Amino acid sequence: MLLKKITVLSALLCLFLAAPAFANKPIVIKFSHVVAENTPKGQMANKFKALVEERLAGKVEVKVYPSSQLFGDKKVLQAMLLGDVQMAAPSLSKFKTYTKTLQLFDLPFLFKDMEAVDRFQQSPAGQDLLKSLSKKGLIGLGYLHNGMKQLSASKVLKVPADAKGLKFRIMGSDVLAAQFQAVGAAPLKKPFSEVFTLLQTKAIDGQENTWSNIYSKKFFEVQPYITESDHGVLDYMVVTSKEFWMGLPDDIRPVVKKSLDEAIALGNKVASEKSVSDKKKITESGRSEVITLTDAERNLWVEAMKPVWKQFEGQIGKELIDAAYNSNK
Ligand code: LMR
Repeated sequence: MLLKKITVLSALLCLFLAAPAFANKPIVIKFSHVVAENTPKGQMANKFKALVEERLAGKVEVKVYPSSQLFGDKKVLQAMLLGDVQMAAPSLSKFKTYTKTLQLFDLPFLFKDMEAVDRFQQSPAGQDLLKSLSKKGLIGLGYLHNGMKQLSASKVLKVPADAKGLKFRIMGSDVLAAQFQAVGAAPLKKPFSEVFTLLQTKAIDGQENTWSNIYSKKFFEVQPYITESDHGVLDYMVVTSKEFWMGLPDDIRPVVKKSLDEAIALGNKVASEKSVSDKKKITESGRSEVITLTDAERNLWVEAMKPVWKQFEGQIGKELIDAAYNSNK
């Protein structure tokens, strides 16, 4: 009897001692992404961690997993809905199973530059798109820039006919598939983590990406030509799950959001700097020749790819396409 009492008492004591430790456990935000740390997204995520952990010391801990260490972009949103990761920033091309409207950003030659992209994202129509994942249990917390995409290949690409028959890696987007089919090329949807090897082994002939991704993942070392096409945009949406976000204590959520907004501002600054400096590093490396198009050559790409807009108008909405296009003015 005495032994039983002692056992019960010691169990209660253990619980009592363990309880405060459990209650004080910090909230953990796992932030998963696929790019290197020396990129706009990598820098943004690291800054977010620093700001949150400084402002919410002991209350919130941010664990950043770069370079697809935790999840690739195909799995990350599913994992988020299951609570295995709390934040991510997939490119806007990777949401098609959750919403069709974000396909807008993949339309070739829709935005003339990053200023136009930014104007549209900050407009009421652009801000509305942050809510487009809501029915699926996800919240868009903000946009982050990377930059305009360029075409890299194993041969010189000056006019659309040069791309005919070549295999290009694309992100998991039907619009991007249509864009390459429009010039007679063969698109292949592959994860970002596989691109370097696919290029190196010549399993594919080319790919499209920003200067920052081409540089940080060393694609330029295995692609002898890069055409400065600026034919599309690669930007991100920082997302979280509704369940996680709404479950954050009311005094914590605004601090996390403010820290994210500041980290995004830094990421955008890095993006704009890297679109110049990473291009310069690639050019200076001598590993890859950067090809500049004449206006006439560029117009041929526009003419060949622009019919894709009509193809996806039904899924995206004409009004939205017009609103985005008008941000060029
Ligand atoms: C890609 O897959 O090419 C990009 O989405 C990678 C990234 O996140 O910038």
